[in-house]
Amino acid sequence: MQSLLVALLSVVLLAQRGEGLSIVGHRGGFSDNTSYVPEHSAAAYALGAYAGVAYLEPDVVSTKDHELMVMHGNDLGGTSDVAEKFPERVATKVISGKNVTGYFTEDFTWAEISTLRLRARAYGGQGALDGIYPFFRFSEMLEFTKTLARETNRWGELGVYPELKMPTYFRSLGLPLEEKYLQAAADAGYCTFDEAGFCASTTNGEAPGPFIAQSFYSAPLKYIQSHSEFQRVVLITSVVPRGPDKIKTAAQAEAYAKYADIVALPISWGAENFTRATLLAQAAGLEVHGWTTDVDPAPYRMLVDLGVTATFSNNANFADGVLQQMRQPQSEPDDDDAPDDDDAPDDDDAPCGDVPTEGSTGVPHHHGTGIAIGMVIGGVLGVLVGAGPVQVLRARYNSNRYHDIEG
Ligand SMILES: *[C@@H]1O[C@H](CO)[C@@H](O)[C@H](O)[C@H]1NC(C)=O
Ligand SMILES: *[C@@H]1O[C@H](CO)[C@@H](O)[C@H](O)[C@H]1NC(C)=O
Ligand SMILES: *[C@@H]1O[C@H](CO)[C@@H](O)[C@H](O)[C@H]1NC(C)=O
Repeated sequence: MQSLLVALLSVVLLAQRGEGLSIVGHRGGFSDNTSYVPEHSAAAYALGAYAGVAYLEPDVVSTKDHELMVMHGNDLGGTSDVAEKFPERVATKVISGKNVTGYFTEDFTWAEISTLRLRARAYGGQGALDGIYPFFRFSEMLEFTKTLARETNRWGELGVYPELKMPTYFRSLGLPLEEKYLQAAADAGYCTFDEAGFCASTTNGEAPGPFIAQSFYSAPLKYIQSHSEFQRVVLITSVVPRGPDKIKTAAQAEAYAKYADIVALPISWGAENFTRATLLAQAAGLEVHGWTTDVDPAPYRMLVDLGVTATFSNNANFADGVLQQMRQPQSEPDDDDAPDDDDAPDDDDAPCGDVPTEGSTGVPHHHGTGIAIGMVIGGVLGVLVGAGPVQVLRARYNSNRYHDIEG
């Protein structure tokens, strides 16, 4: 009787605490390699919004003619057909002390980049949705977020969480990101500039949702801090031991708190380093977010228990399934469907994601929800891409939800 009571109580507590963990749709939220969806595409963002992510996560870089666009980094090679369309433009450059070969955004005008079509990174040009979607300019992505906020009845709630990528590098090329980033936010209605150049957050219902600025670097976050009211996230590198060593003392955590509201810590550090850093950050008054979860429910328990308030996800549909289970009271709380207490997060938690394993149980089968969401997505994407790819996408979306997950 007592153990049943404890079990029920822990389910209630877990349900309450599960409420506090929200999902950041990494590159839209379907960038793991079990999805066919090209990262940062309209399809990725639409699917993320319909899967219920709290934030859509674009990465922001510059073109040669200083247009801000959305891509994971400055190399167009892995995520588009640039090698076929502009084969002669391949270049090798020293970036951060390393020779890097690719097709770099800073060497292309926006007019050139807008002729390219996106590819899903994991499928080498053979992805089912490759060749359909163009790149977004940052301003267009923000406008699309507004469309999605309306379509999903989440106006005022659907957030964006844009990362300023390689800010020092782009500034050194005379293509600084910060000013244009804030201008794009203002143009999309997230904030309004006063005469002194300070962008005050919009409060009259004009903003589609929260706007959180994100970077690995302090300089752009300090710029955002002195020019806006937006919340700021400082990302800490996953590289070991450099990453964990960056937040090992109270003084280090307090230094981040001077220019950031939130610190995003790599789950790949493992439970011990992640826990220590989380407690230090929270003691310094910082909120903690985690990056990045894939199709594995194991890290969620740790995140919820530590009071982490958001996690980047490479598969938002999977993440939503895990959180729904944590929120729903179970009739048999201690059966195999619950994530194991001793499930430690994987050490090799690479951003591109693991395929589900036998151990990846613990996710409910929302057949009804999945089909309903699939139908709504079909409607939205039908407008965007025509019927063929939508069938593929819908099938894939549903299979991600309750076929792949069953492993
Ligand atoms: C980059 O490649 C060039 C040519 O192969 C070489 O001379 C140079 O040392 C390399 N630089 C770095 C930083 O690896
Ligand atoms: C934890 O951090 C230390 C450095 O502070 C590092 O040596 C160790 O490998 C890290 N553990 C994991 C699992 O990454
Ligand atoms: C996806 O990632 C897993 C683990 O990293 C790998 O084993 C698998 O081959 C990948 N699949 C594709 C289609 O790239």
